Amino acid sequence: HKFTDFLRELPKCEHHVHLEGTLEPSFLFKLAQRNHITLPSSFPKTIEECKQRYDQFADLQDFLDFYYIGMSVLVSEQDFYELAMMYFEKAHHDGCLHSEVFFDPQSHLQRGVEMDTVVSGFDRACHDATAKFGTSNKLIMCLLRHLPASSGLDTIKLADNLYQKGVIHGLGLDSSEKPFPPELFTECYSYLKNKHPQVGLTAHAGEEGDYTYVENALDLLHTTRIDHGIHSRQSEKVMHRLSRNQTMLTVCPLSNVKLQVVNEVGQLPIKVFLEKGVPFSINSDDPAYFGGYILDNYVAVQKSFALTAAQWKQIVLNGINGSWCSHERKQELT
Ligand code: ADE
Ligand code: ZN
Repeated sequence: HKFTDFLRELPKCEHHVHLEGTLEPSFLFKLAQRNHITLPSSFPKTIEECKQRYDQFADLQDFLDFYYIGMSVLVSEQDFYELAMMYFEKAHHDGCLHSEVFFDPQSHLQRGVEMDTVVSGFDRACHDATAKFGTSNKLIMCLLRHLPASSGLDTIKLADNLYQKGVIHGLGLDSSEKPFPPELFTECYSYLKNKHPQVGLTAHAGEEGDYTYVENALDLLHTTRIDHGIHSRQSEKVMHRLSRNQTMLTVCPLSNVKLQVVNEVGQLPIKVFLEKGVPFSINSDDPAYFGGYILDNYVAVQKSFALTAAQWKQIVLNGINGSWCSHERKQELT
């Protein structure tokens, strides 16, 4: 308990959480009813059944199959607003001061929900969370890598005015990693980088894929950080590069266990990253599916690695430095 309090008090930043992955079963069923949506018969029928099924994902794809069905209950601007607001409240309660949150517009566009509906709800929640909790927040739009790059480019163009106005702050790449490597999206990233050079670029890489996915995300997509990236450990060269350039990895411990990337948190290269000076943050990924928000992930790391207070201070400092917020905000957070 004492260490949980210590971890709660730390000035934490979250850089890897999918808002659609914060959809708790209770809210999911409520929205299904509110929006008259019939879930497929393969989907769990009760909160209890969700808990049981979510506890046995075979791999990333097995999870994603539920994740995309789950989010199909999100329809109105208010749905997106309430979803994000619940996350911001929980993050605030966990002692998270700054959140950079992902969303997957293509999965909503495909169902006939407009970009403006999604982003307006999320953006309204960002502002309300700042007013209510004093937290800072940024939206990062992700491209679904299982869809063609042409769809990704269309989506970037559809969001052009939102990038222009600074409503969306970054670009990410998620979904099924191994069959859809970073190089497929070179044009999407270069297009956005040319048009809006201030935008933050990141990509999921080295979660199920090996270290070459990390190298290609850096070399070809020009990302300035890497989501997951735990397989960077396979290459001394990549490790050295991440350390030299202080490129932050957004590590998601409970996610890696639930998706069977590792058997237990203790197998993650947390100590190696610390020793080699590879900066990383600790994040929840899809907390409604993986059974824990940011503080639970911090606690899990502490249980496995028994880090010192000095190591924890280094971790949160790296998280602040790796954030895409203003210099002034970073000073406030430090
Ligand atoms: N979408 C939501 N969570 C994800 C993850 N951990 N990896 C890839 N795509 C995702
Ligand atoms: Zn993720």
